[in-house]
Amino acid sequence: MIQISTDILKAKEILENENLVAIPTETVYGLAGNIYSEKAINLIFKTKNRPFNNPLIVHIHSKELLENIAQEVPEKAKKLAEAFWPGSLTLVLKKKENIPHNITAGKETVAVRVPNHPLTLELLKQLDFPLAAPSANPFGSISPTTSKHVVDYFTDTIEMVLDGGNCKNGIESTIVGFENEKAILYRLGSISVEDIESIIGPIQIVNKNDSSPNAPGMLSRHYAPNTKTILSENIEYEIKNYPTSKIGVLLFQDLKINDQNIEKEILSKNGSLKEATSNLYAAMHRLDKKGLDLIITEKFPENDLGKSINDRLERATKK
Ligand code: TXA
Ligand code: MG
Repeated sequence: MIQISTDILKAKEILENENLVAIPTETVYGLAGNIYSEKAINLIFKTKNRPFNNPLIVHIHSKELLENIAQEVPEKAKKLAEAFWPGSLTLVLKKKENIPHNITAGKETVAVRVPNHPLTLELLKQLDFPLAAPSANPFGSISPTTSKHVVDYFTDTIEMVLDGGNCKNGIESTIVGFENEKAILYRLGSISVEDIESIIGPIQIVNKNDSSPNAPGMLSRHYAPNTKTILSENIEYEIKNYPTSKIGVLLFQDLKINDQNIEKEILSKNGSLKEATSNLYAAMHRLDKKGLDLIITEKFPENDLGKSINDRLERATKK
C-alpha cells in the first residue's frame, strides 16, 4: 500500500534499496529509481507498462554534475542549461560510457535535466546517484500533477509518493537535442519555443510524422483520458451531435453553453496560457472521473504555451 509523505529520509532509504518513489517536480510527478540499479530501472518499465525502447530522463541536482552524464556539451546546450536550470528543460546529449543502456534504450544519447522542486532537489543532493524518472502514470495515460493522481494509478504497486503539492507548470519538460551541432526540439513542453529561441535563436521542431529513433513519437496517442475525447472547432455545434450523451467540455476560457447538464472545465478565466497549462492535466483527470460518455475540447492559440497544449490535446484525442 502506497504511503503519501514528505519524509525525504524515507524516500532516500527506499531508493537506496533499489525500489521506486514517486517524486514531485515543477512539471509532473516522476516515477523515480537509481539510474545504476538494473532492478530499479526494470521496475520502472514494469510498473508503467512502458515499452523498453522508450528511453528515460536522468535527473540531477546541479548542472555541474552534467559532466558525469554527458560526453560533450555543445555551446547552445550550455546556454540553455544556464538560462533554464533548475527548470523544465531536458537536454539530449551524447552519453558517457557509464550511463546504462537500459536508461537510454540502447541509444548513444542520454536525456538529462535539473528539476525545479525544493523537495526533489534536496532528495537528489542526499543521494549519491542520479534518478531516472518518467512521468508517474501507466504508459499512454494522463500524467499526474498531484500526489493523489499518483495514488490513484499506483496504490498497490509502489511504496511511496513524496508529496510536494501541485506541480506548478503542469506539463512535461521541453526536450532539446542536437544533430551536428544543430538544435532540434523533440518535445514541446513547459518552456515555450519562443523562450528557447530567445536564448539560442531559431530552432527546428521535430517533424510530427517522423518516426525515426530520435523523434520520440511526437504524435502517437498519449496523455489520453479513458473517456472518449475529441477536438472540435465549434463546441456548441458539436454538442448538438450528441443529444443523449453525458458530455464534459475542456475550455481555454469560459463559453456560454445553454445546456445545464454539460460539465465545464475552464483552464484560465483571464486567458493566461501559463495558467491554462498549469491546470490542463488536473482538469483532464477530473473530467475523466465523472463517468461521462464524451469529452470535447478545443484548439488553443498556436503561440507560446498554446503550442504545447495543442500538442498534448492532439495526442490525447488521436485514435
Ligand atoms: O517533465 C518531465 O520531463 C517529466 C518529469 C518527471 O521530469 N518526465 C517525463 O518523462 O516526461 P517521460 O519518460 O514521460 O518522457 C521522456 C521523454 C520520452 O518521450 C522519451 O522518448 C524522451 O523523453 N527521451 C528520453 N531519452 C531520449 C533520447 N536519448 N533521445 C530522444 N528522446 C529521449
Ligand atoms: Mg510520460
